[in-house]
Amino acid sequence: MTKIKKIAVFTSGGDAPGMNAAIRAVVRAAIYNKLEVVGIYRGYQGMIEGDFIELKSTNVGGIIQKGGTILLSARSEEFRTKEGREKAYNQLINHGINAVVAIGGDGTFTGARIFTDEYDIPFIGIPGTIDNDLYGTDSTIGYDTALNTVIEAVDKIRDTACAHQRLFFIEVMGRDAGFLALRSAIATGAEAVLIPEVDLKPKDLKQHIEQGRTRNTGGNIVIVAEGDKYGGAFEVAEKVKDDFKNYSIRISVLGHIQRGGSPTCYDRVLASRLGVAAVDAILDDQQSIMVGLMNNDIVHVPFNKTIKNKKKIKPQLYDLVDILSI
Ligand code: F6P
Repeated sequence: MTKIKKIAVFTSGGDAPGMNAAIRAVVRAAIYNKLEVVGIYRGYQGMIEGDFIELKSTNVGGIIQKGGTILLSARSEEFRTKEGREKAYNQLINHGINAVVAIGGDGTFTGARIFTDEYDIPFIGIPGTIDNDLYGTDSTIGYDTALNTVIEAVDKIRDTACAHQRLFFIEVMGRDAGFLALRSAIATGAEAVLIPEVDLKPKDLKQHIEQGRTRNTGGNIVIVAEGDKYGGAFEVAEKVKDDFKNYSIRISVLGHIQRGGSPTCYDRVLASRLGVAAVDAILDDQQSIMVGLMNNDIVHVPFNKTIKNKKKIKPQLYDLVDILSI
């Protein structure tokens, strides 16, 4: 029998649409299983400062459709120190917390892994980031919503790009990964995509764009991941502008619009499933794992594994952009 009576939940790192749906699922699944729940504001920083709130079912009513996170988010420098983590541990103990659910990305799970190596409070992770760059889950909470935001924006840009027969470089988020860029490039029929995982040579980029120009009477769209090797859309445009002297070039950086908005049905259901799975994992005496979804089934992935391994781009998906922009 588990001795767990009270759990805590927090969100950390870059917020992602669907985090609220995950908080709701954790709180309600905990109450369903007769556990008390505490919310921690501002991620690890709030944990260090004891910024806690008791959560009842009613506190998470009417939030499933909301972007952002009711628990707020932060990136804590102090938690990187041993002293910071000791303060956090003391706060958890003083509040009678027996287990913690961490909703976030790579940095969040790295903090959780270090903490659980030092202290005996189990942590369970829920993957929440628009970047989808976590090994061990097919999708992270927020990715689908961000993709839909990107394609809505790019479709609009294509209208004006076509009207003026312009070449647009559109930058999407993804500091270290090109998942958002690649999938949105396929979905918007982009002429080319630049992502950190693939080294697209300027001559190949030129060929894609010239093909686009011959084929279209309209504009050309190149999607650029912010973490691509040139450093983003402005830098790419600067680098290649001499190759495209007779093109009218414009640049658009979509920015933080990609992190907001009401989560899609997919993200709400994913968040609900993972929230309940996290509480199930706690009751099953699991620790230091992320709950994820692979082939539509819930999986448990040790923090060590999800942190050490890099999720790979599917080459077949990358090839689609090539094939379909002929
Ligand atoms: O990790 C998610 C993410 O949206 C990245 O794609 C982006 O580089 C980063 O967060 C931006 O973070 P901030 O809001 O702190 O500038």
